[in-house]
Amino acid sequence: MENEIKLASGAMVALGVATAALVVMPYLQVRDVPAPARLQPYTDAQLRGRQVYIANGCVYCHSQQPRDRSLGPDLERGWGRASVPGDYVHDKPHLLGSMRTGPDLLNIGARQPSKDWHLGHLYQPRAYVKESIMPSYPFLFSVKDEAEAQREGEQPLKLPPGYGPAVGRVVVPTPEALDLVKYLQALDRTYPVLPAPAKP
Ligand code: HEC
Repeated sequence: MENEIKLASGAMVALGVATAALVVMPYLQVRDVPAPARLQPYTDAQLRGRQVYIANGCVYCHSQQPRDRSLGPDLERGWGRASVPGDYVHDKPHLLGSMRTGPDLLNIGARQPSKDWHLGHLYQPRAYVKESIMPSYPFLFSVKDEAEAQREGEQPLKLPPGYGPAVGRVVVPTPEALDLVKYLQALDRTYPVLPAPAKP
């Protein structure tokens, strides 16, 4: 019996130490971090777009955490400065991601502000990047007669030649696609942040 008690209490201590080091201490470190002055909270449309981002698993291929120069060439890749905890105060849950099958997206709104490009790229990535392995998201769009789209006041996609539907038909974005693009355009943490204080 004595051994079982030792085993159980040893396990509890190990669990307690791990929880303190990996959950409690990081929480205390970042819970009071203020929002950087130039970071805007998400609008309702951007928050809906964020849900579309989550629902479609974009996070499985895209990180949102450019690293410091000492850890990798993210700055040279044009992904922006290393992120700081304050960059994420409005992100619940955060979408840091751990896979980088595609580029980091924390600053995609600054790098690629064009709505037309984003919509077309979501409809067919290979229309813009020939060898892209990103999946297309045709279900975020509908294909209809040009006249019908015009009647309903919808703006058809401007796709590169050869990637559009048959003559007389057009591709129009669903509200989900439009919200998703608003979210992507809002991803911009290019404002300056103070460097971390030097270690004594
Ligand atoms: C299977 C992995 C994969 C998934 C899932 C994926 N992507 Fe991508 N994405 C890529 C790759 C690879 C690229 C680079 C080639 C390209 O631009 O198409 C890319 C590029 C991009 C770019 C352009 C980045 C730049 O710096 O030019 C954006 C924006 C983007 N993806 C958004 C999304 C969104 C939004 C979703 C979810 C709806 C998504 N991706 C899902 C792999 C993926």
